[in-house]
Amino acid sequence: MKNGLEDVIAAETQLSDVDGEAGRLVIRGVSLDHLVADGTYEGVAALLLDGLMEKSFDEAELRAWLAQARTRVFDHIKAADAALLALPPVDAMRALIARLPDGEDFDTALSLLAAPAVFLPAILRKQRGKRPIAPDASLSQAADILRMLTGKLPTREQTAALDTYLVTISDHGLNASTFASRVIASTQAGLTSSVLAALSALKGPLHGGAPGPVLDMLDAIGTTENAGHWLGEALDRGDRLMGFGHRIYRVRDPRADALKGALKPLISTGQVNNARGALAEAVETAALAILKARKPNRPLDVNVEFYTALLLEALGFPRGAFTGVFAIGRTVGWLAHAREQALDGRLIRPRSVYIGPLPAAA
Ligand code: CMC
Repeated sequence: MKNGLEDVIAAETQLSDVDGEAGRLVIRGVSLDHLVADGTYEGVAALLLDGLMEKSFDEAELRAWLAQARTRVFDHIKAADAALLALPPVDAMRALIARLPDGEDFDTALSLLAAPAVFLPAILRKQRGKRPIAPDASLSQAADILRMLTGKLPTREQTAALDTYLVTISDHGLNASTFASRVIASTQAGLTSSVLAALSALKGPLHGGAPGPVLDMLDAIGTTENAGHWLGEALDRGDRLMGFGHRIYRVRDPRADALKGALKPLISTGQVNNARGALAEAVETAALAILKARKPNRPLDVNVEFYTALLLEALGFPRGAFTGVFAIGRTVGWLAHAREQALDGRLIRPRSVYIGPLPAAA
């Protein structure tokens, strides 16, 4: 028995492979570097869902259908009451997604891909006292998300940066939320139920809830000179450094560099101030040195959340919404895994070892 099911194989999948020793992520046979260099969100979504739905489609068809689905799900925003829209962003998203019909069909999958992308910007605007902006079916998912958030057409670099983010986090082996999605799928409850369970798992700070706290940490550190001292005190208190460490990776998380790379065009074109980037680099260097000294037996390196925090901040998302943006990108992975599991047809039902008291003998 392994606490946390560490190293336990719980599924066979054709969707993605995480090699924690080599620091490599492969999605449907394509390495993350290639996906990031050439890919768009819609392209990776088509790749992940290929052969798992009742009809086949290519990237262009998916882009068009997804754009229509965004327009369709926007009606749920119009119908939502103020109390629901005032909930913390992920909770509001979850409550709105729960209103979508459940099913295993392609239309349900499209609505679930579109819903988080439409709901999150609308929730954020409502919470700032602004009117939600309706989707524009002529745009890509990434460009439309940014337009619905800010009310302005994003620049080419901003769209590319969000596209890279969505591609980078689209799928990642049997992480906690994906496993939750597969467990629900194995009961044949429906894709909406799978996504709701996965979103609930993603919310925790040990999974998708870390990037907000990464920025809190950078704010608390404040200056590059303070990094070593602050990090040392945090470890003395027994705190974990947010954005570092991973259950699978024993080397640098390859997604961190993909996201660091996506920030560069924004910095070089002056669209973001590089002061945050310089502080982050100093914190990263200091953290790696101090973690190596304090935890010599456990290789700890940067994970995806560290540069996620910088990228999403640069794109104008508030830190309380970072987990919601993660969900926009990861939903396609949850759906692909849910379909793969549903097609497998076998109920997931492990066993536990009972260690409680037994009834007294009669
Ligand atoms: N800072 C300081 N020490 C750490 C950290 C960290 N971020 N991560 C692990 N350790 C230490 C831990 O204290 C333990 O030390 P010791 O053996 O002396 O008690 C040792 O490393 C092993 O820890 P573990 O709990 O067995 O590791 P895990 O596989 O359960 O942890 C983790 C994985 C992601 C929960 C953990 O690294 C962590 O809490 N990181 C901070 C939160 C974070 O960044 N989460 C986002 C994860 S990436 C998103 C995703 O892919 O889901």
